[in-house]
Amino acid sequence: MKALVLDAEARAASLCEIPEPSPNSDEVLVQVEAISLNPVDPLYVQHPLAKSGRTIGSDFAGRIASLGSNVQPTGHLKIGDRVAGFLQGASSVNDRPGAFAEYIVIPWDLVWNVPEEMKLEEAAGVSLVALTAAQGMWYRLGLKAPFAYDEGEVLGEHPEWISNRLASGGDPEITNFFIYGASTSVGLHAAQMVRLSAKASGKKVRLFGAASKARWSMLKSEPYAYDFLVDYRDNDWPGQIRRASDGEGMHLAYDCISEDDSVAMVSSTLSGNGRIAIVRSRAGGAWEADHLPTEPVYGAVWEGLGEEVRYQGFTIKRSLAARKFAVDFYRWLGSAAGSKLMPVPSRLMPGGLKKVVDDGFKLLGTGKMEERQVSRSEEWMRPVSAEKLVYRL
Ligand SMILES: NC(=O)c1ccc[n+]([C@@H]2O[C@H](COP(=O)([O-])OP(=O)(O)OC[C@H]3O[C@@H](n4cnc5c(N)ncnc54)[C@H](OP(=O)(O)O)[C@@H]3O)[C@@H](O)[C@H]2O)c1
Repeated sequence: MKALVLDAEARAASLCEIPEPSPNSDEVLVQVEAISLNPVDPLYVQHPLAKSGRTIGSDFAGRIASLGSNVQPTGHLKIGDRVAGFLQGASSVNDRPGAFAEYIVIPWDLVWNVPEEMKLEEAAGVSLVALTAAQGMWYRLGLKAPFAYDEGEVLGEHPEWISNRLASGGDPEITNFFIYGASTSVGLHAAQMVRLSAKASGKKVRLFGAASKARWSMLKSEPYAYDFLVDYRDNDWPGQIRRASDGEGMHLAYDCISEDDSVAMVSSTLSGNGRIAIVRSRAGGAWEADHLPTEPVYGAVWEGLGEEVRYQGFTIKRSLAARKFAVDFYRWLGSAAGSKLMPVPSRLMPGGLKKVVDDGFKLLGTGKMEERQVSRSEEWMRPVSAEKLVYRL
């Protein structure tokens, strides 16, 4: 089969012929029909952690081609079913193949059923960013989830997150929630989850966001329905947020960029006992800040795969609670209730796997968001804004 394979010495990935994998007893084999790109995919080709020969890439959608011997055909998992999920790809030292291949294997309970009305191209853009946002909103910050999961086990592993669950401020009926990077793929999912939590808990949320003005009309509409937006290019946006909350500040915030001074600026909008979750770690060097009012809550989406994740110099421990949360989340995502979560609009890129590196990776770049600059004239090479880059196989 064909796969996009890492050449660590050349800091490149190219289309290679490799053997088709076969599922172990608890896995399914998926014939991949569409993939979507995430910023980590080009990042770890340009700055490889993995050895040459590893299949790169994270997000996929396709059809089940075979079931491992312990996986019983059920109402929701049988050969031919349309499913989506993500793999870690070449984004760790651990030797696990990624998703940018014609066939992949994955534990059966880490795929979700794609609803009939959703195209596989759309579904390919959901798994990684939606789980990232779900971990931020529900698992780490503790908003009420619209599905059951073992929160006691989560807090057993992370007792420090109990205070996040108490951060809704002076008026427990109204939570001020701020999403910085509201037009990112992660942010578009997070806003919907905040709205779902408000419904599930019966509490009111005032949703504040920061995005470029071009995205405001989208973000003010359903299913995001932001109450107040600022332009992240205005220097005074933190002041605008504080003033719009009548000085109360934000009870909870999610920084979907977490670069340079964004973490400090988002933190400056918090109320007295406000809490902030972030998407990039202090340890990884994406941002620095002294004297924050509270230490941001960070985690990696990979934790949902339930495996130890090794980088060069630091390790994220295996978490059973994170894996169980991912399984419960994906079961909900594949249900009638979860299917209401709207996928990020997708841009179908031409050329299939062989154009991923030349085009898609160029658009995402490997540096900071502000360094994403491509001057190419093709229509599909315009800047990425509130959308996922998707390739069909
Ligand atoms: N911790 C984890 O496990 C995890 C998982 C997934 C992603 N991430 C990280 O989360 C971040 C977001 O990922 P993504 O895939 O959602 O990104 P994305 O969809 O590619 O983000 C693109 C958007 O970012 C917005 N943007 C660019 N610079 C900005 C700034 N300075 N302030 C506010 N918005 C800005 C752009 O908005 P405009 O077009 O409006 O300018 C654009 O719509 C990435 O750094 C990614 O690596 C972490």
